Amino acid sequence: MASSSRGHFSSRLGFIMAAAGSAVGLGNVWGFPTKAASNGGAAFLVIYLAMVFLLAFPMLVAELTIGRHGQSNPIASLRSIWTKNRAAAALFGIIAMIASSMILSFYSILAGWLMGFAASPILGMLGLQTAADWLVNFSDLRNVLLALAFSLLTIYVVRKGVADGIEKWSTRLMPVLFILFGVMIAYIFTQDGAMEGLKMYLIPDIAHITPSLLVDAMGQAFFSLSLGVGAMIVYGSYLKKDVNLPKTAAQVAAIDTGVAFAAGLLILPAMFVAKNHGVEIFDAAGNLMSSGDLVFTVLPAMFDNMGSAGVLLGFGFFILMVIAALTSSISMLEVPVSCAQDELKMTRSQATWMIGGAIALLSIIISLNFGALFNLVANVSTVYMQPLLGVVWAIVVGWVWHRNKLLDEIKQGNPEIAQSLFWKIWPWYVRFVCPVAILMVFGYSLI
Ligand code: TRP
Repeated sequence: MASSSRGHFSSRLGFIMAAAGSAVGLGNVWGFPTKAASNGGAAFLVIYLAMVFLLAFPMLVAELTIGRHGQSNPIASLRSIWTKNRAAAALFGIIAMIASSMILSFYSILAGWLMGFAASPILGMLGLQTAADWLVNFSDLRNVLLALAFSLLTIYVVRKGVADGIEKWSTRLMPVLFILFGVMIAYIFTQDGAMEGLKMYLIPDIAHITPSLLVDAMGQAFFSLSLGVGAMIVYGSYLKKDVNLPKTAAQVAAIDTGVAFAAGLLILPAMFVAKNHGVEIFDAAGNLMSSGDLVFTVLPAMFDNMGSAGVLLGFGFFILMVIAALTSSISMLEVPVSCAQDELKMTRSQATWMIGGAIALLSIIISLNFGALFNLVANVSTVYMQPLLGVVWAIVVGWVWHRNKLLDEIKQGNPEIAQSLFWKIWPWYVRFVCPVAILMVFGYSLI
């Protein structure tokens, strides 16, 4: 039920910062550049841009519209459309909650490492070398403690609610992230070797475009726009009815893509700068080293080579990653918390502690069984659940929702939309093209 006491974003800018904060995360700063670097650079960039525009953006509008219509948690929002099949609404809402929680459980471990890499140079400067080394070396205890620390940060923000927690922190942190990025890109361009990386990133080589690149690029686009698991449904539900949904979605997608692009401008040149300094970035067979190595070996080695400027830059880079991760993790936790709050009538604080705590426990279990569980949880949630849930949302908007009712919803905040090009294409597109295209790419990933 939509109640008047429900939180809302207090301004459109606040919403854009929060939704862009959800979208901009490790997927942009880490996932995108490493995938681009190992898939021929510019070839990946071109296909990625196509995937964002052709598949992810229409689905982002769809998810935001479901949420804004329901003005409630994802389960209730789905129910408000799927009025004849409330069980299906509950079922897929719950699956989305589980997927979101699974993503958060492995995401917290990665974000914890990044916290360790940010803090390490500071401890080193203070002369606490043993502690500094401990933070950057793989160990069960480190993984557990840092994941817990990051989980507490996420719980802290989500517990405060929409306007005072999510919106306030996103609006504070996102501009810091933009500025840090700008400074670091400007710096890297002054270094020898940067141009080589830039060429690889911007000049496409068609030979690299293969079917598996399409799969990777679609997965990356879905992950990057936080699609499939209800995060954008729940953020949409905190939007007021006077907001123009397609336009807002386009702005969020543009910021997300812009940051991914900027991350590529930083990381690919940085790889070659590091190579110039004698760091190995390609193995004997000419393949790029693993993505983990890139962020945790190549970049720190590059910072080490830069003397005291490097200490500062390294700190800046990892803080930037932690900020990006935090504004994303809060959107993942918001999915199950909003469901528990409304459906189980819990207070926000109870729901946040209980569910945040349960997910933190899951992070601990994964940390302690890293080899067996980490990739498993990451793959099941992002390779299977995310695209398949995306197909369900496309079916909800394209088939279950009556076209006129959909128009009534999307018209609010955009009265002229019935005559627009967007409305001529989008409903059909979400009905036919999105589900089929997602299933095709997904099917290919299985073989
Ligand atoms: N989009 C974020 C990133 O690029 C991660 C993220 C936040 C996410 N919320 C999500 C991914 C929901 C999938 C589903 O890192």
